[in-house]
Amino acid sequence: MKYGYFDDQNREYVITQPNTPLPWINYLGCEAYFGLISNTAGGYSFYRDARLRRITRYRYNNAPFDLGGRYIYLRDDTSGEFWSPSWQPTQHKLEQYSCRHGMGYTTIGSKYSGIEACARYFVPLGENLEIWQLTVTNDRPQAAELSIFSSIEFCLWDAQDDSANFQRNFSIGQVEIEDGVIYHKTEYRERRDHFAFFACSEKIAGYDTQRDAFLGPYRGWDNPAAVERGLCSNSVAHGWAPVGSHHVKLSFKPGESRQVIFVLGYQENPRDQKFDPPDSQIINKKTAKTVIAKYLAAGNADAAFEKLRVYWSELLGLCQVDTPDVHTNRMVNIWNAYQCMATFNMSRSASFYESGIGRGLGFRDSNQDLLGFVHMVPGRARERILDLSATQLPTGGAYHQYQPLTKRGNDDVGSGFNDDPHWLIIGVGAYLKETGDWSILDEPVPYDNAPGSERPLYEHLQRSFRYTLERLGPHGLPLIGRADWNDCLNLNCFSDSPGQSFQTTTNKDGKVAESVFIAGLFVLAGCELADIARHRGLAAEACSYLAEVAKMEATIRQHGWDGEWFVRAYDDFGRKVGSKENAEGKIFIETQGFCTLAGVGLEDGLAVRALESTRQLLATKHGIVLQQPAYSKYYIELGEISSYPPGYKENAGIFCHNNPWVIIGETRVGNGDAAHDFYTRINPSAREEISDVHRCEPYVYSQMIAGRDAPTHGEAKNSWLTGTAAWNYYAITQWILGIRTSYDGLLIAPVIPKSWRGFKATRKFRGVTYSIEVQRAGDGNQVSLEVNGAPIPGNLVPLPPPGNKTVAVKATLR
Ligand code: BGC
Ligand code: NOJ
Repeated sequence: MKYGYFDDQNREYVITQPNTPLPWINYLGCEAYFGLISNTAGGYSFYRDARLRRITRYRYNNAPFDLGGRYIYLRDDTSGEFWSPSWQPTQHKLEQYSCRHGMGYTTIGSKYSGIEACARYFVPLGENLEIWQLTVTNDRPQAAELSIFSSIEFCLWDAQDDSANFQRNFSIGQVEIEDGVIYHKTEYRERRDHFAFFACSEKIAGYDTQRDAFLGPYRGWDNPAAVERGLCSNSVAHGWAPVGSHHVKLSFKPGESRQVIFVLGYQENPRDQKFDPPDSQIINKKTAKTVIAKYLAAGNADAAFEKLRVYWSELLGLCQVDTPDVHTNRMVNIWNAYQCMATFNMSRSASFYESGIGRGLGFRDSNQDLLGFVHMVPGRARERILDLSATQLPTGGAYHQYQPLTKRGNDDVGSGFNDDPHWLIIGVGAYLKETGDWSILDEPVPYDNAPGSERPLYEHLQRSFRYTLERLGPHGLPLIGRADWNDCLNLNCFSDSPGQSFQTTTNKDGKVAESVFIAGLFVLAGCELADIARHRGLAAEACSYLAEVAKMEATIRQHGWDGEWFVRAYDDFGRKVGSKENAEGKIFIETQGFCTLAGVGLEDGLAVRALESTRQLLATKHGIVLQQPAYSKYYIELGEISSYPPGYKENAGIFCHNNPWVIIGETRVGNGDAAHDFYTRINPSAREEISDVHRCEPYVYSQMIAGRDAPTHGEAKNSWLTGTAAWNYYAITQWILGIRTSYDGLLIAPVIPKSWRGFKATRKFRGVTYSIEVQRAGDGNQVSLEVNGAPIPGNLVPLPPPGNKTVAVKATLR
């Protein structure tokens, strides 16, 4: 069952039924001002940091799930009937409804009682505000007298405090109203230098800024007293809950259409220019007024929207493919790339499953996200890398996360995840291969943001690598620390009290438990670092890295191979985890995927064997589960993983993030059919038909799909913010389609299904546009290349001479 359809031409997903199984959302904004918006206009906005600069309030885990947002009410002033064109919150039976989620904008339109209303929500590039462009059309044969009400609820900036500290917060709310613009200025009189504004393009008949005055006692957003009455009370919030609502009254002739624009924005003032007049407590609104006036003009709003369209066309245009599979095309060309930009901007901080107050930008996550977006915004990737590495600790270890506003690392979600440092090497490698910008390695970057501790970025990579060598366990494998990629495999935690955090509690000294996963990661990162060293002319250093890698590979063979698959770890007692010796959790996906993608066991058949075991024991029609058999009870020595009921999350859920590791592994052993098959099983577009089972958005990846042990097998959860986005993008574009960046140019190494006759692609790389055509002439993956009509040996397309902006590549597969 479906709830809408893909409009690929317009790069939109069109939802045709408002009561989707879960809110299906989109993101507004791509620089500093951001919003989340659902298909019923639910969601919220913030400036840079979803925790520290929350502009509007949203209550998570509500009933209905999604309540609170950018609501508009229409009221027929003749009959007194009112409704919301986004269906929520009044839930009228609309005659037509559609929500178009597009690239950086969402348009929600509907028809009720002969009145069409359509609101387009977006954030203009370069501005800290959002525009709601509402078009109302009277389709009735007679004139209509309508009232329009806008509504938002302000958050008192710090979203965490806002949701907990009521004894203070009910007394501090403050607003100003001037020329019909509602200004929210809680705490501005004391230490804040920022305020929000909410403006309307029409002359207003009234306003409300106190929630209780707008809604009325014991009423909700579905039935505001002001809307029912057709009259606001011009309330001014003093404490309690500041809101913003404009009331506009308009007359429509039959067939007449009119546009009303609302602008909601964020503004900072220099500390010495906060007030106007300077000795008053009144906000200095000079800059805000200019920007408000600009975007209340329809022409300017349209122009800003056009610019946004061009921006996304250009970004997505950097890599476009034309394969025999519509789901591949749609995800690569539109949605997967778009989701990669969302994970870049949000990391794991703000979605409908991540409250924006829990996690800032993760070190591990953000480095991996680079794989998916570095080709689109290389300049911002550079900045991200430098920010991340500035939070690295002198030991080479890392804070697990940092707040985007302060860019300072913190231990709020624990520390000592021993895989963290290696992801920096992987991220920097991806950046170098994409851009060829070797200068980044010489950038002075501090440790732990401490002034005076600056060392070239390259040294940070060296310390990352050494971090593991200085932390080897009894078998010579890397010590796991708090956890590795799998946050829930907590082998040093031994938590026995309810509510104890698996992320921050450590009851063991951590000298025994080892991770085979980190060993695989070490192999990949070590090879990457050796390549980087070689390109810097450090041949001896490169050799030393490769020697350590070889040693680690030997250790994996000796202590990390279980006979038919790779072991997962050793626990604090030195016992195997993820082995046939275990009663439950005998085989884990992480090591099968990561060791094979890193190239461990390619020569001696271990990789092929591990992938076969994965196929036999872990694959389901909905994707590959994380481990089997699922843990049926709590194992204190394993930690959070066994705290989840079987089939969910890390306990044998289909954790989509690591499916692409197996996919890449399959390409490394030349199995294009299996690689694309696994790719398709979790491809959201390919799952659109089973939206009633999948339940999350069919246009973006979710972190998890319930595994075969779960009663709801196939049900997705935690959509949008997941490493799945970057890894799948990387797997399909660079490994299956095989258009792979390297330090010396673009490699062409497709490992596609046997049934494909070929495919075409355009890829912009280091300023040059490559038109690539791949044709099958045999069943294998052997590539012969023609570049600009001339055959060349090997599969590396050399960079063209300077000035040459296009290259035609023809690849024949045999
Ligand atoms: C989740 C993990 C997540 C971790 C973040 C756990 O509860 O299961 O997926 O990475 O929290 O701190
Ligand atoms: C989600 C976290 O964001 C990520 O860092 C982690 O690797 C996975 N969960 C697996 O636990």
